[in-house]
Amino acid sequence: MKTTTQLALFDAHSGDRASNGSYSTIGSEPELLAAALALGARDVPGWSPQEEALTADLPLFDLVQAEELLRRIRANEDPLGEAFCTLRSTADRRVQGATYTPPGIVAAMVEAAARQGTPDRIVDPGTGSARFLNAAGRRFPRAALVGVELDPLAAILARANLAAAGLADRATVIVGDYRALSIDSTPGQTLYIGNPPYVRHHLLEPLWKQWLVREAVRRGLSASQLAGLHAYFFLATALQAHPRDFGVFITAAEWMDVNYGRLIRDLLLTELGGKRIVVIEPTALPFPDAATTAAIVTFEVGSKPRSIWLKRVNTLDELRDSRPGRCVHRERLATERRWSRLTHAAQSGPEGYVELGELCRVHRGQVTGANRVWIAGAHSEGLPSSVLFPTVTRARELFSAGSVLDDPTTLRQVIDLPTDLDQLDAADRRAVERFLERARRMGADLGYIASNRKAWWAVGLRSPAPVLATYMARRPPAFVRNRADARHINIAHGLYPREPLSETVVAGLIRYLAQATRLTDGRTYAGGLTKFEPREMERLLVPTPALLEAQAQ
Ligand SMILES: C[S@@+](CC[C@H](N)C(=O)[O-])C[C@H]1O[C@@H](n2cnc3c(N)ncnc32)[C@H](O)[C@@H]1O
Repeated sequence: MKTTTQLALFDAHSGDRASNGSYSTIGSEPELLAAALALGARDVPGWSPQEEALTADLPLFDLVQAEELLRRIRANEDPLGEAFCTLRSTADRRVQGATYTPPGIVAAMVEAAARQGTPDRIVDPGTGSARFLNAAGRRFPRAALVGVELDPLAAILARANLAAAGLADRATVIVGDYRALSIDSTPGQTLYIGNPPYVRHHLLEPLWKQWLVREAVRRGLSASQLAGLHAYFFLATALQAHPRDFGVFITAAEWMDVNYGRLIRDLLLTELGGKRIVVIEPTALPFPDAATTAAIVTFEVGSKPRSIWLKRVNTLDELRDSRPGRCVHRERLATERRWSRLTHAAQSGPEGYVELGELCRVHRGQVTGANRVWIAGAHSEGLPSSVLFPTVTRARELFSAGSVLDDPTTLRQVIDLPTDLDQLDAADRRAVERFLERARRMGADLGYIASNRKAWWAVGLRSPAPVLATYMARRPPAFVRNRADARHINIAHGLYPREPLSETVVAGLIRYLAQATRLTDGRTYAGGLTKFEPREMERLLVPTPALLEAQAQ
């Protein structure tokens, strides 16, 4: 005997009972399917054999109830999707990655897509009950709608929702695996929008893991077999999409920081063309099923980005705020393994300020391995001047320089020989060989650093940094304009602008850093020594170039 649990359908927006106070009674999956058919699911073409099999022997559905469902769907609710999430256990849905997206987030993502363009076609990978297709179909009244869904039951719900919303004539639903699919190409732009399924790697088949690695390698990227299913969806989208297509995906945010997420990060920095990432704090309950931090990613295919905007919001209301957040340079993103750190910093900076790392890379100077050998002195007499480089080798040289270092003759010289000694002419080569004999006797070829260099004799100084900084002292670091073209060894950091900066901006930056950097910004060691690692220095907040120019006037 069939037992029907009375199921109250809840209002998707308020969490209250259906807005008119009435109950719908859908007590089983067959009944849910019957409701979907009554709402016109058959009007959306492309039925699969799996769907036909599911609908072979269904109960009749009450027409009054169907009317009520229709009314609610037309009022932008999703009673079928809600019923599905109640009837199918959380554990079963977790295996499928079936966490449906709250309507407020769907609406904000559709608006984010509208700010990017007007698509001719919309693809929703992992359609579920078609929340995205329904909202985007209304927002873009001429776009063709394509849903791809593995679960035939969910696909039938998607069809019913699309039909009830009056979108059947523009819609196709494909039952299949998004990774295996090749969707026909179409003239014009396609919008990829949705919530790729989050399924952990333990549940993914080895054959698909091999697919991920193979397809990533083909594109010059690397992939980890520990990646969750959402990473596969990003890659599959890169495989499907064409230049100028665009997209908005929501996922759990962990890929921003973990090793396996590197594939998604790399795709966003290359062919998928990341434009913006908005991180949603778990307090905003982006996914009511789980206390997860979410990330909404906007991308434009083929637009190898120079930078990506990052933002963090605490409430779903803040998603409607169209202020872009903080622009982070691609080089910074390429070298930073934890992108969420950059969104935290973006939150704390005052208007008009960026992290120093946005403007400059900070590199520690080269380690020589043996200063007594590689800093020139009596033992190196006779070496040609072409291998001797004026170099900052003591912090006090920067402290005493003031804001500008312009006399290289006050500095000691570091011996930097080419890896390939055949480059030298015969006379220089003889002088260098004589020196190397002495250096060997001093043990310069034996240390850890020397034995890990390409050639033990080639120190490999970095090019002159336009700005030099001390990084370890009992006082705040000194920042010095390097007009002497001096090199630096590992007692100093070099600041290398990512883009050319005007002399006014560089001078303003040095002035600002000199007066604003406090010992508390660095890491203090026993005895009061404060050290700034390059990454810590990159995190110092500084005025933007525009603000520095304005201040100079
Ligand atoms: C996170 S849910 C999103 C559903 C819907 N787009 C929404 O946001 O409300 C992901 C959906 O992807 C489907 N799915 C899981 N693996 C899939 C695959 N390999 N190909 C296509 N769909 C898949 C699940 O059944 C589920 O409906």
